[in-house]
Amino acid sequence: MSGSTKQERRISTSVLVIGAGGSGLRAAIEVAQRGGDVLVVGKRPRADAHTSLAAGGINAALATIDPEDSWQQHAADTLKEGYLLGDPRTVEIVTREARRGIEDLERYGMNFAREDDGRISQRFFGAHTYRRTAFAGDYTGLELQRTLLREADRSGVRIMDSVYITRVLTDENAVFGAYGFDLQTGERYVFLVDAVILAAGGHNRVWRSSSSRRDENTGDSWRLAFEAGARIRDAELVQFHPSGLLEPADAAGTLVSEAARGEGGILRNALGERFMSRYDPERMELSTRDRVALAAYTEIAEGRGTPRGGVWLDVSHLPRETIMTRLPRVYHTLLELQMVDITRDPIEIAPTAHYSMGGVWVRPEDHGTDVDGLYAIGEASSGLHGANRLGGNSLIELLVYGRLVGEAAYRHSTGLHRVGRSPRALAEARQELDAVLAADGEENVRVLQRAVRDTMTAHAGVVRDEDGLRAGLDALAEVADREAGIGVHPDIAGFADVAHAFDLRASLLAARATIDGALARRETRGAHNRSDFPALDPALRVNFVWSGPGQVEAESIPTIPHEIAEHMHEVTSAGKLVE
Ligand code: FUM
Repeated sequence: MSGSTKQERRISTSVLVIGAGGSGLRAAIEVAQRGGDVLVVGKRPRADAHTSLAAGGINAALATIDPEDSWQQHAADTLKEGYLLGDPRTVEIVTREARRGIEDLERYGMNFAREDDGRISQRFFGAHTYRRTAFAGDYTGLELQRTLLREADRSGVRIMDSVYITRVLTDENAVFGAYGFDLQTGERYVFLVDAVILAAGGHNRVWRSSSSRRDENTGDSWRLAFEAGARIRDAELVQFHPSGLLEPADAAGTLVSEAARGEGGILRNALGERFMSRYDPERMELSTRDRVALAAYTEIAEGRGTPRGGVWLDVSHLPRETIMTRLPRVYHTLLELQMVDITRDPIEIAPTAHYSMGGVWVRPEDHGTDVDGLYAIGEASSGLHGANRLGGNSLIELLVYGRLVGEAAYRHSTGLHRVGRSPRALAEARQELDAVLAADGEENVRVLQRAVRDTMTAHAGVVRDEDGLRAGLDALAEVADREAGIGVHPDIAGFADVAHAFDLRASLLAARATIDGALARRETRGAHNRSDFPALDPALRVNFVWSGPGQVEAESIPTIPHEIAEHMHEVTSAGKLVE
């Protein structure tokens, strides 16, 4: 088997996009429409990229339903609800340009939900001051992915499915290519390029219960970026979505969209109490995600959860018509996975790892990294969300930065006079893959992946403390030792086992960065709850930047412009952990 994999195919392009979800496609469309040569590679079939799972919506202050809304208010909400850790420049760019992001989609033919007069509908999502979430039922990501694929096709973007990238190749801190293999045939690829856009997601699959499927968001972007010379920011800031399914076990964590609460869904504990009245009596179910997730976690931890360890989310009081038109995915998912009819019965849910709010360190203006010609975008990147992401902000981020990063990579490529190539870097990438293919130890990669996920769930979940985090580090070190003894067995079905081995390395790196950041953040802020430091510490209004095991540095956050700040109210985590 390994002999056939020695064959290498060389492919040249100006811009290589790693990841065929929304952010990668939007960036590629921009490069192509500017006349650039661009290639997108993805691990799974393009129509099934992770973006297709995104449910509830896309934020932009279009002011169609609430005319008082403005980009400044959207920016203020984003910064405030991110507990002031978002980068104000990034937030301003996303919120100012959001309208254009939606207009681009309309031009591409996206099928938005609309009002009777034809204007785009907007609904409430948690903690937004106004209704500003545009949507397509609760299939917004699926419709977005289809729309972008159609536009990419019209624009002549080349896409290769079933490609796993093992390395970004650099010479003197500048990108010149990438190395990878075909997941079905094992054929190797050397991509020779001017620029690489990393759009391969985050690391939320490093937890046992996750809204990502088994082999997505395993931390690949972080590993590829870090090994190329980039750094990771805010690794500890991970969003736990309040509503993941508990069952069936092989789909644990599957998302029930926040749209269910946005449309009027009610949360109750096993005693029938509408428990949000204890945690955020004003906003109730429309509180911020960090608060709702922590509230659900607390109810369960304190014995008021269901016997299976969940709480109830009930939409059965809503008109059937609302459920069928605005929550069709939730309706079908519950029927398919649990035979539960949500028009009659409540849904049993618990928090699920959902989104990496941190990611590869990038510049706000163009999402360039520490490495020349390497860009990161979407969930792979960092800067927008701070310590708590507003639902619906990720899809608008990928549209806004997709355009900007596509333009930046195109300009980088056309402005280059020469590209250095390092035979050594290429040889190392080759040897790395050779070594994985030759691995014949007794340790099983899947078992070790499970060990990482269990470790992170036990020691770095919704609520953390110093002892637990340190125990987590020890457990990770043990998995890393065992990783040296793995066996990798590609077979007639394909080379997925090789991808799992690289995924495991990525997950170990991402988990380590997360715990290092979580140890450094000795406070409770947003989604990061430290039971041993239950208060927010104003001195820690910094971002933590990770540059290797045990190496975390604080980075200051620029001042918030007055025109945004004047729309903000006080920010506090007071009392979160004692309720
Ligand atoms: O709940 C949801 O529909 C998720 C939306 C988001 O994470 O932006």
